[in-house]
Amino acid sequence: MTIRVDAPAVSCPAPVPVAWEFFAGGGLAGLGLAGFSIGLANDIDAMKAAAFRTNHPGIPLHQADVWSLSAADLPGTPDLCWASSPCQDLSLAGARAGLEGVRSGAFWGFWQLIQALDAAGRAPPVIVVENVAGLLTSGGGADFAAVCAAMAAAGYRVGALEMDAALWLPQSRPRLFIVAMRGVAGPTVPGPVAPFHSRRLVAA
Ligand SMILES: C[S@@+](CC[C@H](N)C(=O)[O-])C[C@H]1O[C@@H](n2cnc3c(N)ncnc32)[C@H](O)[C@@H]1O
Repeated sequence: MTIRVDAPAVSCPAPVPVAWEFFAGGGLAGLGLAGFSIGLANDIDAMKAAAFRTNHPGIPLHQADVWSLSAADLPGTPDLCWASSPCQDLSLAGARAGLEGVRSGAFWGFWQLIQALDAAGRAPPVIVVENVAGLLTSGGGADFAAVCAAMAAAGYRVGALEMDAALWLPQSRPRLFIVAMRGVAGPTVPGPVAPFHSRRLVAA
């Protein structure tokens, strides 16, 4: 006699996309990345690292200068790399050394890492850089152009938008988000969309 046992229907949940958080601070960007799990993070500062560990217990955090990291330090392939890179040299309130400044220039340390991941076949399909709107005009506009050009040279499609926390909260905090995508479908818009494509963003 043959006894047939039907296997129960098993539905496999879609894998949760993984984000790596650079310049992570307390990990607030990661907390806001709904639908992602944070795979690893980096920040140079010990107090920020302590805050990150409180907010993201168990997530590997590389407490180090981003310039000192290599692709070998970061195992796996992320779906998203998020970089809230330092703004001090870009802010309208500062001396504005731009992306050539020591602090805001750390962006290039992040980008060097993306290039190393790319060489290893592990670059993410999506990169988001978050910074102050001063990045649109620092260096006479050359900094924003250089970031977009670096991303485009690596084969990413690049777009940007500005969002002000005041749209949701009683605090004005305009921020620039540069989004780079490669090998994945993403939104396309035929022209500027208010309020996210501000006049200064369109000009840049
Ligand atoms: C604009 S804050 C990011 C804040 C973060 N989104 C949060 O949730 O707290 C920039 C962060 O970059 C870190 N940072 C500055 N220079 C760095 C470097 N060379 N390597 C790694 N992290 C750096 C700072 O310690 C700071 O936490």
